[in-house]
Amino acid sequence: MTRVLFSAGIPKAGLNRLESAGFELVPFSSPSGPGSLAAQAADADAVLCLLTDRIDEAVLAAGSGRLRVVANIAVGVDNIDLESARRHGVVVCNTPNVLDETTADLTWALILMACRQTPAAEISLRAGRWSGWRIDGYLGRDVHGAVLGLVGWGGIAKAVARRAAGFGMSVLHHARTPSGAPGYVADLEDLLASADIVSLHVPLTTETRHLIDARRLRLMKPTAVLVNTARGPVVDEDALSDALEANQLFAAGLDVYDGEPAVNPRLLAAPRAVLLPHVGSATVETRTAMAVAAADAIVRVLRGDPSLDRAARAQA
Ligand code: DGY
Repeated sequence: MTRVLFSAGIPKAGLNRLESAGFELVPFSSPSGPGSLAAQAADADAVLCLLTDRIDEAVLAAGSGRLRVVANIAVGVDNIDLESARRHGVVVCNTPNVLDETTADLTWALILMACRQTPAAEISLRAGRWSGWRIDGYLGRDVHGAVLGLVGWGGIAKAVARRAAGFGMSVLHHARTPSGAPGYVADLEDLLASADIVSLHVPLTTETRHLIDARRLRLMKPTAVLVNTARGPVVDEDALSDALEANQLFAAGLDVYDGEPAVNPRLLAAPRAVLLPHVGSATVETRTAMAVAAADAIVRVLRGDPSLDRAARAQA
C-alpha cells in the first residue's frame, strides 16, 4: 500500500485528501532519533512535512529507492536539502500562491506597527504610563505617501505592492532578473538608499544569507523601516541591532529569525523593533489551504500526473 509519512499538527483537510486517495497515513514524531522520519523513510512513498522538519541527506538517503515525493507545507524550502533530493530522485513540492495574500496582510501589519510604533504605545498605556495626549507623544513615521522598496518580486511581494496603492505610495522592487514591471530597480543598493520602507520577500539561499548586512543597512535612510517576513538569516541580526541602537535606522518589523524559535537577545532588547513569532501565513483558512495544496501535490506526483505544474515542484 502507498504510505505517506506526515508531521504532527497538519490540518485534517490535508490528511483527508490523502486518505481519500487510498494512501496509508503514518505519523512521524521528529526528524531524528528512534521512530523518527529518517528511521521510517525507507518504507515510505511520500512525506508531508512542515518548515520546522529538517529533510536532510540522512532522511533522503534512507528513503532512496522508494521515497518519491516530499511536500513541504510552506513556500520556503530551505529546510530541505534540494541537492540531495535531486540526487535521490525525490520530487520536492511546496505551497506557493495560496499564502500570498495572507502573508501580504501580515507584512502590512508589520509595516504599520513598525512605522507608527503601535506596540510600544500600547505597552505604555497598559503599564499606566500614558499621562495624556502630548504633541510630541508616541511619534512614528508616515506610511501614506512613502516609498516602499520590495526586495524580491514573487507572489507575496506583488500582493504587498497591490495594497500600497491604497496608501498612495510609490513602489520600487528589486529582483535578480529584470521584472519588466514599473518600479523595477536593477541595483539592490539603489533601492535600499531610496526607500522609506524596505520589505524583504526573497527565499533563503546561499546567495541571500545576510543579504541585508551592516554595509547595506548603512545605505538605508536613518528614517527608514526594515520589514522581514521572508526568512531570518536574510538579515544579519547583530548588524540590525547595531543599526537600531545607533539610531541609524528608524525601526524594524520582523516575523522571522535566524535560529528560530530562539530569538537573538539583542533584537529582543533593540529599540523600535517590532517582533512577531513567524505568523505570516497563520490564518485558519490559509493554513488549511496550504495543507490541502501540499497533500494534492503528493497525490499528483504519486499518480504520475503530468500536469503537476512547475509552481508545486520546488526544485523544477
Ligand atoms: C512559508 O510558507 O515559507 C512561510 O514562512 C510559512 O508561514
